[in-house]
Amino acid sequence: MITFLLVFSGLIVCIVYLIGIYNEYYWKRRNVAFYKKHKVTSVLWDFVFKKKAVYLNLWEVYKEYRKEPAVGIGTFITPSLYVIDPTNVQHVLSTDFSSFNHRGLDVHKDDLLADNILFMNGNRWKLTRQHMTPLFTSTKLKSMYYIIDKSALDFVQHLNENKQLLKGDTFNTLMSFCSAAIGGAVFGISTGSIFDSPFLDMARNAFKATFSSNLSFAVLTLSGNLSNWLGLKFFTQHEKFFIGAIKQILRAREKENVKRHDFADLCVAIQKAGKMVDKETGLEMTPTDELLAAQAFFFFAAGVEPTATALFGTLYELGKDPEYLEKVHKEIDEAFEKNDKMNFDIIMGMKHLDMAFSEAMRLHPPIGFLTRQCIRDSVLPVGNIKVDKGSKIFTPIYEIHHDPKYYPEPEKFIPERFAPENKHKIADITYMPFGKGNRICVGLRYASLQSKAGLVHLLRNFTVRSIIHEGGPKYKAQAVQVRPYNVDVEFIPRNVA
Ligand code: HEM
Repeated sequence: MITFLLVFSGLIVCIVYLIGIYNEYYWKRRNVAFYKKHKVTSVLWDFVFKKKAVYLNLWEVYKEYRKEPAVGIGTFITPSLYVIDPTNVQHVLSTDFSSFNHRGLDVHKDDLLADNILFMNGNRWKLTRQHMTPLFTSTKLKSMYYIIDKSALDFVQHLNENKQLLKGDTFNTLMSFCSAAIGGAVFGISTGSIFDSPFLDMARNAFKATFSSNLSFAVLTLSGNLSNWLGLKFFTQHEKFFIGAIKQILRAREKENVKRHDFADLCVAIQKAGKMVDKETGLEMTPTDELLAAQAFFFFAAGVEPTATALFGTLYELGKDPEYLEKVHKEIDEAFEKNDKMNFDIIMGMKHLDMAFSEAMRLHPPIGFLTRQCIRDSVLPVGNIKVDKGSKIFTPIYEIHHDPKYYPEPEKFIPERFAPENKHKIADITYMPFGKGNRICVGLRYASLQSKAGLVHLLRNFTVRSIIHEGGPKYKAQAVQVRPYNVDVEFIPRNVA
């Protein structure tokens, strides 16, 4: 038995070694630099075994190969390219979208809640995205604003009634606001205790980093086939609760005669219309409760964690910059003096708030990097790099946002970078907290609105002070999320009429 194990382990080591050599050779032949630290698992090794967030590992590669247009990295036996030059990034995300429209993460077909726009590909993705987009038009957002506003007002009251929440684990506290806001605005959920609902628990756990979830993500990134062969599923533990809840919401809404213009209304209309049909390709999809629940599931998850990161990042930066905080307070106070109530236009028209929010999203983009897969041979313009069908692509977000070439003094919070008179100096492709191209975040306008409404009501009622624990800011080992910790934000009540 021992001999067998020794021979078997030796064989595995040899195979891994040969794959590493193959990966290196693959890119060398194309005149592309190769990241040699882990030739088979590259940035995923330290993610799983050293608990270092993937984007921070990519950041190391970025700094080392800053002058290269792209770097080959090992992801098992699939050729993978980490694209560094912004023109090449633009090519992948936007210019040659038809060659790179695949997300590069092939989830298990029985992972029902993963059958959402984020993970879908090809014509199914296109058709589903087309049907979901109407939820996020300006008209829809304007009509749902009053619900977001109410959640923010209720949240302020909730903080006032639970003073222990004013200091300590503010990220978590902000997640409860985000869950209530998206639950109310998008799904019409208003349970008795909206800041402590089972939906919030689900959103908190959906993308939680644990050793096994990180390992599963690493396997999925290395090889979709291997992940499917191992039967890895990510969200099955939420299926019963969430699909059940969505079914209940939809059945209740079918019986109601009131139009709320939210996700549930949209779903009822889609189901009433019968099959979803792509006229160009003839593809037909049935909008089952499960398919719609999968979309809702991701909307909910995205409405909670990344949105809480955006809020937290802004409050944290403002809490360190009393001078700029004063400007934002002034802008918000003036808006309240002039208007009885906030609305979409007032919130979205606040200049200093927008500058602070944009700069915080640059410093702390809630999603650190993007993935794509090449579905048709292509050539990256800078370096003339041939990319074969099937290759995986990683593109930077955090790294570009922190590159001194694009943002002088990149670690400093300088909202003036996003002042109307300066904005044009920032190239479109060097700022992408919501991604870029046709797969850009569907909920970006909703997420900005929800975050800004939260910020306005919080800062109307509280001022903030940032707390930096010993050792300074750190980042959790998340798969794609950028989640700061070891820092916090304290709310201090203001005396406003
Ligand atoms: C501040 C909060 C948020 C941030 C920073 C964020 C960021 C992102 C990013 C970077 C992507 C990938 C885009 C790409 O591949 O080019 C994405 C995709 C997506 N986001 Fe968001 N997001 C946020 C909130 C939301 C919300 C609230 C929703 C829905 C209500 C949402 C729905 C989606 C969907 C459906 C996709 C997949 C799009 C596709 O593949 O076609 N996001 N988001």
